[in-house]
Amino acid sequence: MSKNITSHNFGVSRADREISNNHKSFLIWFTGLSGSGKSTIANALEIELNKKDVKTYILDGDNVRTGLNKDLSFSPKDRTENIRRIAEVSNLMVDAGLVVISAFVSPYKKDREAIRSVVKDVNFVEIFVNTSLEECERRDVKGLYKKARSGEIKNMTGISAPYETPEQPDVEIRTEAESVEEAVEKIMKTIAEKLKLKDV
Ligand code: ADX
Repeated sequence: MSKNITSHNFGVSRADREISNNHKSFLIWFTGLSGSGKSTIANALEIELNKKDVKTYILDGDNVRTGLNKDLSFSPKDRTENIRRIAEVSNLMVDAGLVVISAFVSPYKKDREAIRSVVKDVNFVEIFVNTSLEECERRDVKGLYKKARSGEIKNMTGISAPYETPEQPDVEIRTEAESVEEAVEKIMKTIAEKLKLKDV
């Protein structure tokens, strides 16, 4: 596919953009069940980062599955393609100098590993929003679990499709025991060093 494609050396590099933004760029990836609290924490984190003048962008189901990925279902193959495209978009945005915050169920370990290899290990922070299925089902913000139990929705993560738990996430948030503020504080501590420009 990439035959006959050669890359052009553009005059403005990621490093230039990081210097002008006064922070490094990388990807913060949230994984967890539907209704676990990924988008809520991602949103609070983005607000906190913006207070510190960090340039950010959130990718989540709302802005990706309604546009770029609206041709994709929740079959295992389409979920893999969903995550592959998001990883590539995230990678471009990291190159653009942003701190990218992506919040997707991303239930398969191999897909999350693939993101890591697209953006490279040093640019990847994995956050596992660990909320029990019981609690997600109790919240059922979008009414999807009820529909999944009645069979109206197939392939529902946690009910009729698997969720492969991350083994060594950089941060684990237990929303049943920690508040959104505590979660944000924990993530901010983890990324503090990563944000800093070196040698300036
Ligand atoms: S992923 O598995 O491909 O990473 P993604 O995060 O994009 O999923 O989308 C998940 C969101 O789509 C859920 O939060 C939920 O609102 C909605 N959704 C609709 N059908 C399903 C389903 N079968 N399984 C999981 N989420 C679903």
